[in-house]
Amino acid sequence: MASEQTGRGSARSAVVWAGLETVVQDGARDVLDIGGGTGGLAVRVGALGHRVTVVDPSPDALAALDRRAREHDVAVTGRQGDLSSLLDVVGPDSADVVLCHGVLEVVDDPAAALATLARVVRPGGVLSLLVAQRHAAVIARAMAGHFQQALEMLEPTGPVAPSGRTGRRHTYDELTALANGAGFVVDTVHAVRVFTDLVPGSLLDLEPGATAPLVELEQAVATRPEYLPLATQLHLLAHRP
Ligand SMILES: C[S@@+](CC[C@H](N)C(=O)[O-])C[C@H]1O[C@@H](n2cnc3c(N)ncnc32)[C@H](O)[C@@H]1O
Repeated sequence: MASEQTGRGSARSAVVWAGLETVVQDGARDVLDIGGGTGGLAVRVGALGHRVTVVDPSPDALAALDRRAREHDVAVTGRQGDLSSLLDVVGPDSADVVLCHGVLEVVDDPAAALATLARVVRPGGVLSLLVAQRHAAVIARAMAGHFQQALEMLEPTGPVAPSGRTGRRHTYDELTALANGAGFVVDTVHAVRVFTDLVPGSLLDLEPGATAPLVELEQAVATRPEYLPLATQLHLLAHRP
C-alpha cells in the first residue's frame, strides 16, 4: 500500500486507505500494525506523524520493513512476535489504532485473536481489520473451472482447508460477529476489490488512464451493502467502547 503504487496496486489499496485516512488524519497516535509484514501500510501511516510499531513473526519481513522505513525517512519500530505473544510484546491498552490486515486468514483461532486485539486497543481506540471474503472466492474458483474447490469453499474452513488450500475467508456476518464477540462496536464495513481483480492486467498496464475511473468505481460501490458479497476483501473499522 505504499503511496507510490500505480495501476492495479493503487486500485487495490484505494478503498482501504480512504477508510483508514478518516482514522489517522489527526495528530500523533500510537499505531500497532500486527502482521504488518514489510511495512507498506505502516510506513505510509508513519509518514503522517504517528508512532507506528509493526509486530510480525517474520525476521525477513521486519528487515524489509526497516529498509523501507529508512528509504522513506520514516520512523517505524519493528518487533518480532505474533498474535499469540502480542500482549507480552506490546502490553495491554498500548495502542490508539490497531491495524490487522491479511492476518486473520492464517491464525488458528480468529476469536482468540480478536480477544487479544481488544485488550491491546485502548478504550475509545480503533481496530482496522482487512480480511479475505469468501463468496467472491467461491465465484472466482468456479469461473476458473475449479468446481471442487468452489464447493469446498462454500463453508467456513480453518487456515488450511482439507484440500491443502491455505487461507481462511470470512463473510460479512462472520466478520462482524467476531468483532462484536470481542467487545468491539463495528462502525463501517467496506467492500474492497469488487472489480479490480476481475479486470485483465493488460488493460491497466496498457491504458494508464483506466486506473482512475476504476478507483472511482471501487470507491462508489465500497459502501453499498449489495456489493459486499462480491468483494475480494472486507475492510472493517470498529472501536473499543
Ligand atoms: C498476507 S501478509 C499481510 C501483510 C500486511 N499486513 C499487508 O496487509 O500487506 C500476512 C502477514 O502476517 C504475518 N503473520 C503470519 N502469522 C501470524 C500470526 N500468527 N500473528 C501475526 N502475524 C502473522 C506474516 O508474517 C505476514 O507478514
